[in-house]
Amino acid sequence: MASGAEKQTDRMEKIVSLCKRRGFIFQSSEIYGGLNGAWDYGPLGAELKRNVKEHWWRSMTQLRDDIVGLDGAILMNRAVWKASGHEETFNDPMVDCKECKGRFRADQVESTPCPRKPSRSVKECEHEKTEPRAFNLMFRTHAGAIETDDSLVYLRPETAQAIFVQFKNILDTSRQKLPFGIAQIGKAFRNEINPRNFTFRSREFEQMELEYFCRAEDGLRLTDEWLENRLKWYESVGIPRSKIHILDVPEDKLAHYSKKTYDLEYEFPFGIQELEGVAYRTDFDLGTHQKHSGKSLEYFDEETKQRFVPHVVEPSAGVDRTVLALLCESYDEEEVADDKGNKETRVVLRFKPSVAPIKAAIFPLLKNKPELVAKAKEITSALRQEFRVFYDDSGAIGRRYRRQDEVGTPFCITVDFETLEGDKATGAKDTVTIRERDSMTQRRVPITELSSFIASALK
Ligand code: GAP
Repeated sequence: MASGAEKQTDRMEKIVSLCKRRGFIFQSSEIYGGLNGAWDYGPLGAELKRNVKEHWWRSMTQLRDDIVGLDGAILMNRAVWKASGHEETFNDPMVDCKECKGRFRADQVESTPCPRKPSRSVKECEHEKTEPRAFNLMFRTHAGAIETDDSLVYLRPETAQAIFVQFKNILDTSRQKLPFGIAQIGKAFRNEINPRNFTFRSREFEQMELEYFCRAEDGLRLTDEWLENRLKWYESVGIPRSKIHILDVPEDKLAHYSKKTYDLEYEFPFGIQELEGVAYRTDFDLGTHQKHSGKSLEYFDEETKQRFVPHVVEPSAGVDRTVLALLCESYDEEEVADDKGNKETRVVLRFKPSVAPIKAAIFPLLKNKPELVAKAKEITSALRQEFRVFYDDSGAIGRRYRRQDEVGTPFCITVDFETLEGDKATGAKDTVTIRERDSMTQRRVPITELSSFIASALK
């Protein structure tokens, strides 16, 4: 009997394999041996990721009038990272193995497999290690043709700083009143010492960050409100509260700028790990940029006539970790009977329709009947205007269903002879069968109602 841990490892391996087999996620530069910590999202992964980002963006900006967006540059003036403290302190402790020359995070030697003998950890390996040294996680490059210290720039390790340094411009142009937020989605880069667990810890990843500016007296209350709000959002995309553990970060573990932080941790197959942090960062960020830039980042309260540096609450989520959590949460296997009554294992990604990469697949019952093919293609063209749909005429219908189950398509629409000749029960023409992914039940629906049927499932 496999242990719980083995079953979870097995589950993770199946998810990684499905991601590659069906075009969700590939290793970056695979044909050249890959690049550790970098991943490419294939056709279905790109759709899934876009859906996650669109959900977040809509919930933050479109559905509220107190949050506006920003799309900041990845490259910023080095002074930003000096002021924020990243240049000095954005470090992980690192040790080197003197034997194999491997480099490891000093705080993870117990859980990192030894490269020479992966069945034991780096800690268990008998060879001598160096003393821990600080390793700065920011990627460095140079702006312009001359590579000197003056031209040094970093690939941003978080999206948040662009929000802080554009605070004044956004305040002046959007005329928001406190409390209000600035939301941003974008790439971030960290030269992680040991990237691992598939996309979970990567060197290039995407963040969805909100900086919600407020008065000092509202900071702690809003931190609790944002925690609740974020839990609701995860539930809305298909990650239940029961799978998210809330870590109220103890005071002695808080970052120096934070008065309160909640980590939202998801039950990944490889362990309970961070999905998002909700941090009350006080006035540290605006305060420090005001000091270093010499530019006022104060807010003027028209009513009280007071001028002050706002405080900020930051819900900071990882796009890639949310996508990975959705894949882990939705992966399911069940025993079903095939066309001939034999038992087979059905693999299903039980995505909520709103995040599913493909919303509906359209099949002609037989591909050698031109009337069925023409009708199915006509339906595909019409639905394509509103939804991401997929036409498929190859193989038996049962196989086509399984292929769509495996990528999480909530609906399969089949054009059959009753579509052309009339429904056996009612005689009505132009009806199709819709087969629902999770229940596998089928029903006949008029073609004219397909669009509203799919749209209502996406709400
Ligand atoms: N601005 C605050 C900030 O960046 P963080 O906890 O370092 O805080 C926020 O990062 C989120 O970004 C994490 O909760 C995680 O979802 C994601 N993230 C951080 N490092 C990552 C990495 N190496 N790979 C993938 N996602 C990462």
